[in-house]
Amino acid sequence: MGAGIAIIGCGSAVPEAVLTNDHLAQMVDTSDEWIVTRTGMRNRHIASPTESLSQLSAIAAKSAIAMAGISPTEIDLIILATSTPDDMFGSACKIQGLIGATNAVAFDLTAACSGFLFALITASQFIRTGVHKNILIIGADVLSRWVDWTDRTSCILFGDGAGAAVCQRVDDDRLLSFGMYSNGIQNDSLNLNYGGDRKLLTEDITAQYGTFNPITMNGKEVYRFAVAKVPEAISKAMFQANLTADDIDWLLLHQANQRIMDAVAKRLKIPQSKILSNIEEYGNTSAASIPLALDAAVRDGRVKPGDIIAASGFGAGLTWGSAIFKWG
Ligand code: COA
Repeated sequence: MGAGIAIIGCGSAVPEAVLTNDHLAQMVDTSDEWIVTRTGMRNRHIASPTESLSQLSAIAAKSAIAMAGISPTEIDLIILATSTPDDMFGSACKIQGLIGATNAVAFDLTAACSGFLFALITASQFIRTGVHKNILIIGADVLSRWVDWTDRTSCILFGDGAGAAVCQRVDDDRLLSFGMYSNGIQNDSLNLNYGGDRKLLTEDITAQYGTFNPITMNGKEVYRFAVAKVPEAISKAMFQANLTADDIDWLLLHQANQRIMDAVAKRLKIPQSKILSNIEEYGNTSAASIPLALDAAVRDGRVKPGDIIAASGFGAGLTWGSAIFKWG
């Protein structure tokens, strides 16, 4: 068998509770009108104390595996892209156990909102080198656990969810091109930093003890970065794949802000009707946003086998990336 990659299944899961713009207006000084106009968001789904990232991921994964038509025991590798694991040691193995992927090896990957795309590209390397045949990639985050609910400039943006996809080794390669990028100079524009207190262990050894601080963000800087770098990354990938904007059937962008998605489409001269957007219902679900939008569009029949999708993720790091692939 050849060393091409196909994405043969997808799945998603979101928590039940819906936090509306009107709810947010009761919590901070904001309004439905402001949020809709500036972001395109109306709702976001929030994980309850009894819903875990691992559970949501397992539901998404099972549904992707079912669509792929394989058994969990046929999965060779699981890559969980998340910044909010249930366990700082990683949650991929927990998910492996929940779905019964007994023959897989599992690990976490952290690249914030670029995580799902980075997981896809990482998976493609294991497939192209012939090491693995079936790889489950998951993008999942519960950023609601780390949002500063008193900061109106960021708390309106984030929701929780999990999305998954199964990549398989095939003869006819359907991953047409990709690129991965990061810029640590702008690291301080979006953070979820550790912030423990000093803890004296002995007379001359001091450690730190505590937890992470809530998200801090320079919204304007992140906005400018996304609108500049995402079209560039997709243009490069189109060039590498020998494609023009007319060849792209769907634009599958990280769902950070509808205005960012519209601006990217405009720069690429891709009609807005080709943007896959679910931002109104889910807000920014970080690593989950791309597979959530993909899964909805595949299941409602918008995305059909053979459609060419230009995807791009971007976020904290700063990180960003692009991938052009044929669905199915
Ligand atoms: N409700 C009402 N007013 C708000 C508000 C809110 N939730 N948040 C900010 N404002 C105010 C600001 O205080 C500011 O008031 P001022 O003019 O009196 O100073 C005004 O609205 C405009 O703020 P500004 O920051 O210029 O708004 P914006 O149009 O840039 O939109 C974001 C803010 C956060 C929506 C936008 O910058 C953005 O989406 N950035 C990218 C963030 C992102 O995607 N992060 C995750 C990346 S993975």
